[in-house]
Amino acid sequence: MSHLLGVYNQLPIQWEHGEGVWLFDTNGNKYLDAFCGIAVTGLGHNHPAVTATIQSQAAKVIHASNVVQIPQQMELADRLVELAGMDAKAFFNNSGAEAVETLLKLARLYGHSKNIEIPKIIVMEGAFHGRTIATIFAGASAKAQAGFEPAIHGLVRVKFNDAAAIETALKLDKDIVAVLVEPIQGESGVQVPSDDYLNKVRELCDKYQVLMLVDEVQCGMGRTGTFFCHEQNKIKPDAISLAKGLANGVPIGACIIRAPYCDLFKVGSHGATFGGNPLSCAAAITTVNEIISHKWYENAAKQGKKINDSLRKSLAGNKHVVDIRGKGLMLGVQLDKECRDILTLALKHGIIFNIANLNTIRLLPPLIIDDVQTQMICDLIPQLINEYYAEA
Ligand SMILES: Cc1ncc(COP(=O)(O)O)c(C=O)c1O
Repeated sequence: MSHLLGVYNQLPIQWEHGEGVWLFDTNGNKYLDAFCGIAVTGLGHNHPAVTATIQSQAAKVIHASNVVQIPQQMELADRLVELAGMDAKAFFNNSGAEAVETLLKLARLYGHSKNIEIPKIIVMEGAFHGRTIATIFAGASAKAQAGFEPAIHGLVRVKFNDAAAIETALKLDKDIVAVLVEPIQGESGVQVPSDDYLNKVRELCDKYQVLMLVDEVQCGMGRTGTFFCHEQNKIKPDAISLAKGLANGVPIGACIIRAPYCDLFKVGSHGATFGGNPLSCAAAITTVNEIISHKWYENAAKQGKKINDSLRKSLAGNKHVVDIRGKGLMLGVQLDKECRDILTLALKHGIIFNIANLNTIRLLPPLIIDDVQTQMICDLIPQLINEYYAEA
């Protein structure tokens, strides 16, 4: 019996090592990684520059604490703010949930600065923002919330991809101070809103003077065709949360907060022991520089479109396929039933991905995937679906 807390339903497989888009298990079997450990290892495994950075930084100083200046943190902040193209400041945490928590704290600070006693935040149906108490309730997963009640105060939930619902809520309740939104919802099955949704949210946030908080933890870092997903709407959020792919596997979370709101945080009002440590920031600087200098986001757009187009063609008319959706290398194929078992079949065929929202094959391949590997995904997914339903 394992002494691990039983919160994960793990596949009976262990990785021995990885190389680029490939993973090798402890029995020497090879798998195409169409998952990236949930959108984390965007540059693939054992990326030479990232590995070299981690090794050299580990040999210098891994941890410093924020009682001293951390040059890697300053450099990463400069880089992210430059990429965001905003007058802003950055803060570093250890995970996506912590990054979103920082956005929630920002919203409350903003509300209190306007003398609102119980500031409220609009959150979305279908949202996922992490596993802390605040983020499970900002998210919409009943499963993630079950047993952890009471919810935090001040959340107003509206339908995703429905700007009118946001406006109705804003009109009704003057204590609303922010809107928290994912540009694409990953955990609820890769839900892509209409092209102008984020533009409408931005307009409403301006009109009602509330903060636009954009959670790019999963869809950011080049995965959907631009470094930040919201860039495609040509808008600037008031704050952005990042994590997952930011340091290619070294734990890190980040927030980019626009001026003047960034100055609501004062000395001592927020912090983290590990947050922004030299190792994670060094790994993130190299990861970001690689994504930008090689334009891997363009490859994500190109290969993602190929997979999307190909699956639409090959699965057209398949009565078990409810929908195919996504952007760049964040793709979902929704089936007509719960389909976790298809993962066992996938492993037999030498590919790994995961299931989101119980019924959706979620593909999150590395941004560095090439034409041949993309073709493998295009061939394997329809084959797997056919075999899966033939077996059932
Ligand atoms: C959009 C989004 N926000 C936040 C999180 C939480 O990130 P973490 O698991 O690093 O806390 C996730 C994780 O899946 C996510 O997809």
